Amino acid sequence: MNAHPKSSRSVSITKCLALAGLLFIAGVMQANAQLHIIPQPVSAVPLSGSFAIKASNTIAADEQSQPVANYLHQYLWDTYKLDLKVKIYQHVPPSAAIKLEGSTTNTSKGSYLMEISPKRIRIAGNGEGLFYGVQSLIQIITDVNGKQLHVPACKIEDHPRFGWRGLSLDVSRHFFTVDEVKKYIDMMAHYKLNIFHWHLTDDEGWRIQIDKYPLLTEKGSKVGYYASIGQYRKFDNITEGYRDGFYTKDDIREVVKYAQDRFITILPEIEMPGHSEAAIFAYPELGCKDSTGAQHRVRMLDPSEYTFNFYENVLTEVMQLFPNEYIHIGGDEAEIDDWLKSPTAVALMKREGYKYPSQVQSYFIKRIEQFLNSKGKKLIGWDEILKGGLAPSATVMSWEGEEGGIIAAKMHHNVVMTPLPQMYFDAPQAAAATEPLGWNDPVSWQMVYNYEPQSDKLTPEEAKYILGAQANIWVEKVGNFKHLEYMIYPRLLALAELTWTPKADKNIRRFEQSMYANYHLFNLWGLNARLPNVTGLEDVVTNKDDYATTLTYPLQNAAVQYTLNGTLPDTTAATSSFPVTISSLLKDSLAISVYTTRPLSKRILQKVMVKHINIKSSATDDRNLQPGLSYMMYKTTYNNFPATDTTKDFEIGVLRKDGGLNPYPGLFNSWVKVYGYLKIDREDDYRISSDFENTPMLLLGTTVILDGTKNKYIEPQAAILHLQKGVYQLSGYYLADKVNSKQTLIRITTTGGKQVDADSYLLH
Ligand code: ACM
Repeated sequence: MNAHPKSSRSVSITKCLALAGLLFIAGVMQANAQLHIIPQPVSAVPLSGSFAIKASNTIAADEQSQPVANYLHQYLWDTYKLDLKVKIYQHVPPSAAIKLEGSTTNTSKGSYLMEISPKRIRIAGNGEGLFYGVQSLIQIITDVNGKQLHVPACKIEDHPRFGWRGLSLDVSRHFFTVDEVKKYIDMMAHYKLNIFHWHLTDDEGWRIQIDKYPLLTEKGSKVGYYASIGQYRKFDNITEGYRDGFYTKDDIREVVKYAQDRFITILPEIEMPGHSEAAIFAYPELGCKDSTGAQHRVRMLDPSEYTFNFYENVLTEVMQLFPNEYIHIGGDEAEIDDWLKSPTAVALMKREGYKYPSQVQSYFIKRIEQFLNSKGKKLIGWDEILKGGLAPSATVMSWEGEEGGIIAAKMHHNVVMTPLPQMYFDAPQAAAATEPLGWNDPVSWQMVYNYEPQSDKLTPEEAKYILGAQANIWVEKVGNFKHLEYMIYPRLLALAELTWTPKADKNIRRFEQSMYANYHLFNLWGLNARLPNVTGLEDVVTNKDDYATTLTYPLQNAAVQYTLNGTLPDTTAATSSFPVTISSLLKDSLAISVYTTRPLSKRILQKVMVKHINIKSSATDDRNLQPGLSYMMYKTTYNNFPATDTTKDFEIGVLRKDGGLNPYPGLFNSWVKVYGYLKIDREDDYRISSDFENTPMLLLGTTVILDGTKNKYIEPQAAILHLQKGVYQLSGYYLADKVNSKQTLIRITTTGGKQVDADSYLLH
């Protein structure tokens, strides 16, 4: 394994000092220090002292642990140039320094026990459990003086929450090489993900060798060649070029073995009946006849016997390569109305008595399922396979939100949750204008972390059908591997924790610290992870005549360039190290642009606006005001409040400090209009913000102080107001949901950081 390019030794030493510094700042004694392992183990108890890993140590393993022992040996060599010996025993001797025991009585899948003392390391677990123990060990190795590796003494008992911890890769829109795919798999393995969903065919390219149909790869994988002779399919979504290529059967076998050695199952996807343009390009007879005319891209398979026979032959060869139980057959975004023009499909509908083309889709998937089942395989497909009737034993991958997954689980079908937006890693990780190209609205690592695969719309019995979760990435806009890494990291770490760690043990603040500690590994592994945001940057409205903020950074060795005039810092702008204090007089507004950079990583850009506003108190007599804000909650199908009819379907009440309102059940939106007063008893500077992920719209008088279109993880915002003693009219609205019903709508602190009691400030 040589997938871990080295960083210079001096860099990794500084990272270790950074890590030590973090622990010190946290003010904890070493024995209580947090072990920065992602995903957070079920139980991790730090003990005192540490074990020094030396070249003279032997990795002692029993027979079934030999592959994992070899993996650890190779990792230590590739990463630290430390060459330990591996020795295999029938029974590992108690005195060995590094012991890997694969024969344990604990058989729960993926579980392991790791005990580290100053004298020895012992990891016990079956198969993948032992491997996961080694991954936990790898994450806590610190390189103390450039020569010696230390691991803190601890005891860890661990097992996964879900059996499906997946990540996909689209190799159709852009072909990634075998070495790139192996690195992708390596990085999944470090965070204990176990399903690699390989999206091998799509409109833009067929990427897997099929002996019976050589044109699939000869024609279907060569976008570049066919483009050069002016005979190619239209690739309107691809923005960063393309790379031709396909995997030979030997390539596939090599990758399957590589993944097996890392306890990762490969789920191959062969798309049908839509997204099949590459196959149809190679074998036109597969295409839906008389589709929709010259302008239309023919992407739909004709439901003919030729097609079924063809795909059964393809799947037969695919099944020979992939030993796992599941085959993914796609099923998404099929343009089923094309079938209404296909003589084959029309005849099929007549024969079967079908009224709708969705029934043809159901027929198609059921036939393929029967074929797979007859070969001992299980079918999985995107949630559209629910349309027209789900195949009897199909597993559903819910991507168009959670709806399909919830329906399927209630029907007692297995489900993998991979919903938009949280599980789509092709979305930018911050404001789109400042990030590399992506699809859709931004998805931050926090949004990924907060995702819960077992919807509370399911009973505990139904929730058992949720096998786990998976993140997807489509690469129309990701034209090289470095960009791919940037999109995946650090969000993959959040995915790892939400699929592994018990729900009750999730803790976003702890996770954040562990994630920052993992950046030293990203450097060691040569991984182009997106850098963390600067702390202390947010959109602000203020009525003060000056503005000051201190920018800090969670990682060492970062540098910053900034401007205060709306332009972007150019390469000649002065570079400072953190912390940086920005202080400026304020007449109108201040546009702050900040570039952050760090060795081995590209820089990231953040832009915020500090806007000057005026605030007037109201002439209201405050003697009869009561605690809490008045509210009206509307039951509506509208997705925005201004479009909502405010004359009907509402209830009224008083909103107290204890949080938001429970939304209406069912498929309604619950818009809440709030109104009342902010009562200030003491002149001071106040900071007003909201804990809601999607911030409320809030006005003081007629002036907007929080902008309800913003997401707090993507565009944090606050109002910093100097307020005289008096009463201020307060109004606004927000969308009630299950999460914000338990959160603080309006958080008010003095600029000294003291939170004020909402009941004495928010009145009606
Ligand atoms: C999908 O994103 N079309 C599954």
